[in-house]
Amino acid sequence: MTAILARVPATETQPIPLFDLKRQQARLRHDIDRRIAKVLDHGQFILGPEVTELEKEIAAFSGVKHSIGVSSGRDALIMALMAMGIGRGDAVLVPAFTFSATAAVVIAVGATPIFVDVDLVTYNMDADAVDAGVAEARRAGLTPKAVMPVDLFGRPADYAALKAAADVHGLPLIADAAQSFGAMAGGRRVGALAPISCISFYPTKPLGAFGDGGAVLTDDDDLAEAVRQIRTHGRQGDGDEAMRIGMTGRLDTIQAAILLAKLQVFKAELHRRAEIAALYDARLDEACELPPIDDDDVRSAWALYTVRVKNRDRIRAALGERQIGTGLFYRVPLHRHPAFRGLLSGNEKLAVAERLCDEVLSLPMGPDLTDEEVLQVADAVIEAV
Ligand SMILES: Cc1ncc(COP(=O)(O)O)c(C=O)c1O
Repeated sequence: MTAILARVPATETQPIPLFDLKRQQARLRHDIDRRIAKVLDHGQFILGPEVTELEKEIAAFSGVKHSIGVSSGRDALIMALMAMGIGRGDAVLVPAFTFSATAAVVIAVGATPIFVDVDLVTYNMDADAVDAGVAEARRAGLTPKAVMPVDLFGRPADYAALKAAADVHGLPLIADAAQSFGAMAGGRRVGALAPISCISFYPTKPLGAFGDGGAVLTDDDDLAEAVRQIRTHGRQGDGDEAMRIGMTGRLDTIQAAILLAKLQVFKAELHRRAEIAALYDARLDEACELPPIDDDDVRSAWALYTVRVKNRDRIRAALGERQIGTGLFYRVPLHRHPAFRGLLSGNEKLAVAERLCDEVLSLPMGPDLTDEEVLQVADAVIEAV
């Protein structure tokens, strides 16, 4: 571990950002430069050999048959919805507490998102709220077509419970796994937890590119072929004809080269993220409400370490004065975003989502944080609380 993740000594006065991508870049710079140079040499910038190599490695890593490299997490979700034929007159259940893209993609394909409340402890979609969401969609004259949980902050949603709830209505799950690549549940990796899963390689995600990128993971041959066609203007293989409506949705070869370099150390980085989460957990136990720690069943990818505190804004300001970066993910539940006002919810109050938006605070997280820095952050939280 230490050979890969050299500890950087911290001093009291050094700022601690929420994310620090520079240390990782310094650690991997040589390999990344070498791989980028190779792409410049061969010049296949679109769907070059690195994209194919990365797709193979990601599929093997996740334990799924197909991995399709795409242009972003948002585009991965749109292509999954398109491949499943979801569109006008359809409804997709989404959690009310997540990033706006989770709902925006549903609208982008012409369907309607139905907001569902989340669990106070895991922050993930509440399986008990699925029935009400389906009923609300039907009341509005829409056809429910899928349930789309999010693995918030890297922790897989409760897929067993959600599948049971969705099966009652004959609905498939689509995993918005934008934040959780590398996480595990029940011995299986994200990607193998739902019939189709959508990953983001946005730079601050657990596996991050140096630009936008994403992947669609599935075991289903037909869905995989549909996504492959959609990402290249609806073309099949090298054909010129559009077999279906598609988009420009490919992962760049240069981003694939960068991701290949990062994938070599990804398991070690996941391990370090889990160590950091455990360190926060041990230190902050009595200061605030903590996210569930990893156990034999669920291993988060720890994209973020997010606690719940009263007086959140005051605590955030106190940390800011000490140059400790924090994040508010999320400050506003989806049903209050101007773009989504007036849309339906399966539970009128969405009370947990509302409460979380007032209480959550994300602390610095990343594989290059030192133990000393983590303790410095934790002690600053304790003092502020
Ligand atoms: C839950 C969730 N869904 C979707 C996305 C969209 O991913 P991208 O930024 O790669 O388009 C994100 C990214 O931040 C996300 O956090």
